Amino acid sequence: MSTLIVALDLPSPDAALALVGRLGDDVDFYKIGSPLFTLAGPPIVHALRKRGKRVFLDLKYHDIPNTVAAAVRAATDLGVELLTVHAGGGIAMMQEAVAAAGDDGPRLVGVTVLTSFTASDVEQVWAKPVTSVHDEVVRLARLAAAAGLHGVVSSPLEVEYLKRHHGREFLVVTPGIRPAGHALGDQNRVATPSEAARAGADYLVVGRPVTAAPDPAAVVAGNRAELQTGLATA
Ligand code: C5P
Repeated sequence: MSTLIVALDLPSPDAALALVGRLGDDVDFYKIGSPLFTLAGPPIVHALRKRGKRVFLDLKYHDIPNTVAAAVRAATDLGVELLTVHAGGGIAMMQEAVAAAGDDGPRLVGVTVLTSFTASDVEQVWAKPVTSVHDEVVRLARLAAAAGLHGVVSSPLEVEYLKRHHGREFLVVTPGIRPAGHALGDQNRVATPSEAARAGADYLVVGRPVTAAPDPAAVVAGNRAELQTGLATA
């Protein structure tokens, strides 16, 4: 079954830890992205680990291989379980990241095409005609797999294809999760928790639908029910 990860995109470490406290045992896996990590640094990771939580550090490394390898070693020392690098950083960068994580370090997942991107965004950035975002995701996922990454981040819409082509062991992490009735925000390629789970996603990353909810625990409970039954609850 898919594992739920709550994205701690909150404006301060206190707000983040208050949400973690409020959700208690209902959530044991959290994503720390660049906003919170830039604000709060390694102590926020330590604080989560001390509370027995699993950590996905989503800093989307994209730099020269030597620099990324050093960052991966630092993240490994923090005890995080999942870590992102941009697949667009290239094979050498990803290979060095994998070597730096070693067998006991975090699972490394490659960012393919951001879930906020449409085909015309991809065209603008890469200056080439792009008829399908799906093809770009597939191309970058192939690079990630060739470099030995443990999986990729993709929108829920590509999960089924990626699992079919790279095997069940190839991890797929999907942001862009929107329970029925929730605002899209800046996300473009989205699905409900049950759709993503049915497609075979290993990890579902949910941010604003939980962090912006008046009752975050209720949204988490609704998501879990969807994951378990595979049926939309709303
Ligand atoms: O609030 P929302 O549910 O859109 O949060 C999704 C989270 O997943 C954000 O923290 C965002 O940075 C992250 N993410 C994403 N698309 C990717 C990789 C990560 O939206 N391709």
